[in-house]
This record gives sequence, structure tokens and C-alpha cells, in this order.
Amino acid sequence: MAKLTEIGWDEYSALPLESKKPYLMRLEGDGMPYHTLFAQQFDRALLERLCALANRIRFINKSKEGALYLKNVLAHKRAMLYFSQPSSRTFLSHLAACQLLGITTGSVRDAATSSEFKGESREDSIRTFSSYFDLIIMRSPEQGLAEKMAWELSNSDRPIPILNAGSGKDQHPTQALLDIYTLVRSFEEKGGLDGRTVVFCGDLLRGRTVRSLSYLLTDFDDVRQIFVAPEELRVPDDVIAILKAKGIRYEIRDDLRSAVREADAVYMTRIQDEWDASAGESAKIDTSRFKFGAEELKLLGKDGIIMHPLPRRDEIATCCDRDPRAMYWRQMRNGMWIRSALIAGTFGYERAIMDCGY
Ligand code: NCD
Repeated sequence: MAKLTEIGWDEYSALPLESKKPYLMRLEGDGMPYHTLFAQQFDRALLERLCALANRIRFINKSKEGALYLKNVLAHKRAMLYFSQPSSRTFLSHLAACQLLGITTGSVRDAATSSEFKGESREDSIRTFSSYFDLIIMRSPEQGLAEKMAWELSNSDRPIPILNAGSGKDQHPTQALLDIYTLVRSFEEKGGLDGRTVVFCGDLLRGRTVRSLSYLLTDFDDVRQIFVAPEELRVPDDVIAILKAKGIRYEIRDDLRSAVREADAVYMTRIQDEWDASAGESAKIDTSRFKFGAEELKLLGKDGIIMHPLPRRDEIATCCDRDPRAMYWRQMRNGMWIRSALIAGTFGYERAIMDCGY
């Protein structure tokens, strides 16, 4: 249970994100999150703990005995996956993470199959899920809905944690966790993530993964961020304001090739045209210079990596797929491990897993 009961909604919602953090963490005081709503909840120490736990789960799962041990850890819990926006990887990796820990799951992927279709509010639907489940993993096109639900649930008779699996254009904290886990693993034996240069390219205006990851990178020392996007899709001011306030080195460019030459990681994103105000709006933007292909591959250093939250369209040419620096497939699988670490931590099982004999 979290401290969200100690504060009214109006007072809480007016707080800056970083001040909201204490209200969302576990009351047990082990520093793990109860509700996971935005990237600002995670500091470096917590990120390192989650990466270590993900590594541990990954290792334990290699043997049958270990996998069976993990399957028993949360066998007494049930989770609801409530996804009212399209998803493949985020849905499946959360599902697989639950299965790994023995959690029984239920899902709604289309509001038309739930009572929302009969006019029930999202609030009432989520309250319904909490009657039957112990965790809600939710994705919604509505900015801030997961947060409102977390507050409602914490103040209800049956408080259960909420895990934000993508909210509107604003946040995608668990994607940022898997991105950080991928970066940390990629540079683990090459001097670490500190001091690196990360290039973001594509639709930086509407990509929620960029906002969450850009923030988490500020938890590391001296990571430079370069943003490359068409004029119309430039990184939003709120992201830049955070970098400025924290004294982070950043650059805004419109030339991908020059940025790739300096990159340790290139984070490509697709054009998020589902947010177009009018049909075909994005199609009018010239995105031809914001794609990663054979030429860019030649410019990337030998230890550089290419990332993408996926799904991709044509922003990474398939000729890059078999290059050892193409990290997007491993990145996708990393999602399952870090999400299982987060869920285990949410329920207070970090130590049990870290210290088990496997
Ligand atoms: C991202 C999302 O949904 O925000 N995908 C994901 O979660 N793997 C990015 C995208 O859809 O482009």
C-alpha cells in the first residue's frame, strides 16, 4: 500500500512530478515502488537494484528448478492487463513477466468487450478490476488516467498497485526501464553508461518513450542527449526544461548522420501519426532524413548500439537487423526481465529472489 491516502487529489495533482514520488512508494520502506506511474519515480540506486534483480531472475530462470522456484514466488497473486490502446510487446512482455512469477492474469484489450461499452466510466471499470485482482497493468490514450486511478484505488477499501504501461503522449515508465536495462547491459563491460552520448531520432514530440527515457538518463553521470527530428516533431519544451534544470548536456539537430558519428546509442522512433489532429497530417512531413540505413550503419562506432521501442515502420532498414550493434530484438526481450523485476519488487519479493539459493 502507498501513502497516497495521506493527501487529497487536488493537492497531490498540483505537485511537480518529483515531489509526488514519496506518495507512490511502498509503505514498507524498502524503496521499491508500489504504483509505477512515471519515470521521475526512479533514481539511480533504484534503477541499479531493478537491473540487478532482472539479471538475477534471468539467471535463475535458466534451470528448471530455478524456473519452478520463480513460478511459485507470486503464485498467490492475480493481475489484470487493461489495454485500451494497441500493444504487442508491452502487453506480451508484461504477460510473460507475470507468468514467470506464477501470477494468474486476466485481460481486457478492447473497451468494446467490457462494460465501458455500456457507458461505464473507466474509473468504475478499474474499480471493478480491483475487486478481482491484486495488480492492474494499464495502457490508456488518456494522459494522467493511471495516476488518477492509483489515487482512487489507494483511497478505496481494496487498494492495489497500478503499473502504467503507457499513458497518452506523456509517459511510458516501464519502457524506459527496459531501455535503461538494455543500455546498462550493453555498456557493462565497456566502461558503463556514464559519459555516453545517446541520440534520439524520429517523432520526438509525441513519443512517450522518449520523454520517459530522456528523464531516466539524467540519473546517470554526464550522459549527453542529442535530439534529431523534423522541425514539426521536435522534442517538446518540457523535456528540454528538465535537462536545463539538471544541467544536462543536450543538442537539437536536424542531421542524423552527424549525430550517429558521435553516438554510443541511437534510439530510433516511429512517426506517431495516431495523434494527428487531422488525417494525413504526418504524411506531409518530410521524414526521409530521419531514417537509419546502411549508410548510418557505416558511421556508427564499433561499440555503438541501435535501439528502437518498436513497432518500427521504415525508420530502421531491415539490412541493419543482423548487425551485432542492432539491439532492438534483445531490448524487446529485456522488457520481460525488467518487468518481472519491477512486479516482484512491487510485491516486496526483491530480497527473497536475490537471496534464494538458485
Ligand atoms: C511504444 C509506445 O506504445 O509508446 N511502443 C512500445 O511500447 N513498445 C512506441 C510506439 O508505439 O511507437
